[in-house]
Amino acid sequence: MFRTHTCGELSPKNLNENVSLCGWVQTIRDKGFMIWIDLRDRYGITQLVFDEERSSKELQEQARTLGREFVIRIEGKVIERSSKNPKIPTGEIEILVEKLTILNESQLPPFTIEDETDGGEELRMKFRYLDIRRNPVKNKLIFRHEIAQKVRNYLSNEGFIEIETPVLIKSTPEGARDFVVPSRMNPGQFYALPQSPQTFKQLLMVGGMDKYFQIVKCFRDEDLRADRQPEFTQIDCEMAFAEQEDILNIFEGMTKMLLKDITGKDFQNFPRMTFAEAMKKYGNDKPDTRFGMQFAELNDLVKGKDFKIFDDAELVVGINVENGAEFTRKQIDELTDWVKRPQIGASGMVWIKFQNDGILTSSVNKFYSEEDLKKIGEKFGAKAGDLMFIMSGETQKVRTQLSALRMELGNKLGLRKPNEFAPLWIVDFPLLEWNEETARFHAMHHPFTSPKTEDIPLLETHPENARANAYDLVLNGNEIGGGSIRIFNETLQSKMFDLLGFSKEEAENQFGFLMNAFKFGAPPHGGLAFGLDRLVAILDGNEVIRDYIAFPKNNSGRDVMIDAPSEIGKEQLDELNINLKL
Ligand code: AMO
Repeated sequence: MFRTHTCGELSPKNLNENVSLCGWVQTIRDKGFMIWIDLRDRYGITQLVFDEERSSKELQEQARTLGREFVIRIEGKVIERSSKNPKIPTGEIEILVEKLTILNESQLPPFTIEDETDGGEELRMKFRYLDIRRNPVKNKLIFRHEIAQKVRNYLSNEGFIEIETPVLIKSTPEGARDFVVPSRMNPGQFYALPQSPQTFKQLLMVGGMDKYFQIVKCFRDEDLRADRQPEFTQIDCEMAFAEQEDILNIFEGMTKMLLKDITGKDFQNFPRMTFAEAMKKYGNDKPDTRFGMQFAELNDLVKGKDFKIFDDAELVVGINVENGAEFTRKQIDELTDWVKRPQIGASGMVWIKFQNDGILTSSVNKFYSEEDLKKIGEKFGAKAGDLMFIMSGETQKVRTQLSALRMELGNKLGLRKPNEFAPLWIVDFPLLEWNEETARFHAMHHPFTSPKTEDIPLLETHPENARANAYDLVLNGNEIGGGSIRIFNETLQSKMFDLLGFSKEEAENQFGFLMNAFKFGAPPHGGLAFGLDRLVAILDGNEVIRDYIAFPKNNSGRDVMIDAPSEIGKEQLDELNINLKL
């Protein structure tokens, strides 16, 4: 037997017991007459002691050969510590070592394996297995496991069956590029890795498995950000004979269960907001509702006063920052520069200060009287001490820009509190969005999403106005899940492909298998998928999903530890019938 206990469990209850422990040497303190070693494993740290009086000379000498991160096994007796450490659970005891076995030596690690490390991001990624020994990383992986386990139990109890779907498949359009895998046995042909198991879960519904889930890897070749990895994990679900309401209820229940677990609080029914309302009030479809600063549209108040920029704009819209009148001129200028950066792309912004003395002043005093400013202030519900920022331009663009400013202010003013949770359903998404580049409609969710029944006639007249039976779950300004009620009728699905610009042959070629399945009694069905990485990060008060993935990729999609992607040999390329002309 390697060990009788872990390094995290011994306490005064175990005094005088003979124990054996295994782990890594975290620190060694050698005072000559006494040597202390902190031994670490997944469960904690236990202090080992060797001393002049009670330990043999050989044992002391052996202890002196140890280095950081050596893997050792010890046998010894649990004794009471003279100077106790109340910060750790094992802080009242130590082990008087009687036997020491070095199981493996270690090179000096390239960074310190402690909660606060001296290692930079790149170095820690290269030696990720060492980083995982550190509490902050280890605890995140354990947290992820706990959430995944609770999700599995919840869905199992609700009658969902976990079914695996294939990874070597044909393209499933979710809006990103596919990663592809060449087929040796079928020269010139490629599998695509799933962007999601979307088509398979629909086929499972045709197969009668009326409640399916899977915690599953998905692959998307897209630009990476803090909340995006090229391979990530979904909690993917589908239900047959279910309406939108049934689906929202089940997954709201799941999210409430997780939130209760973390906060100890019962959450009320999640608010719902239409896509149109979210765009109007927050300028985006995943608003962080932990703080206010809702948009106020000002066209009727600001136009016709000879201020050309506002007169020419499609939309003039602003936000009110409570107590923002304290902002200095320099701070306001900095924010103005911030919105003018190319990433945001605003041409400028106007501010109005509601001074503490009740007087309103602005950057456009020339055009607007105090009376005008008062009316604008009323529209915002502003009070003395507040500051308003106003932007203008083409509706969609200016909403996006103001939304970015709102989030920046939310961050700057500490309004996005990590341990506060604001879940929100966004419903009634548009079915289609026009893509200028391709001059075609794209499916806003995916091509299998059903239009709202009452909007089906619009497909013939104004498809751009048709709303979808689609929904997203937003948590703290992040989209953590999304789904829809699906089309289950072959004719409507063909119509949809038609609208999306697929020729009959293309549709047949890519999705013939699904259309065929719909000829054999497809039940009404719908579902959704959560991003597990995002869900876990946000529940843990974070937004960077990389930290919750054992072996993540960097922003260029590289795994710097195993050095992937990498070139492959000519022989392998030939076998795959690939001629590279780089
Ligand atoms: P969707 O494309 O909205 O829907 O994806 C579902 C959820 O997956 C997460 N997600 C990601 N997480 C990390 N990195 C990424 N690159 C990434 N892309 C998406 C998000 C998102 O809400 N098949 C549909 C679901 C359905 O209709 O049932 C789908 O995949 O949290």
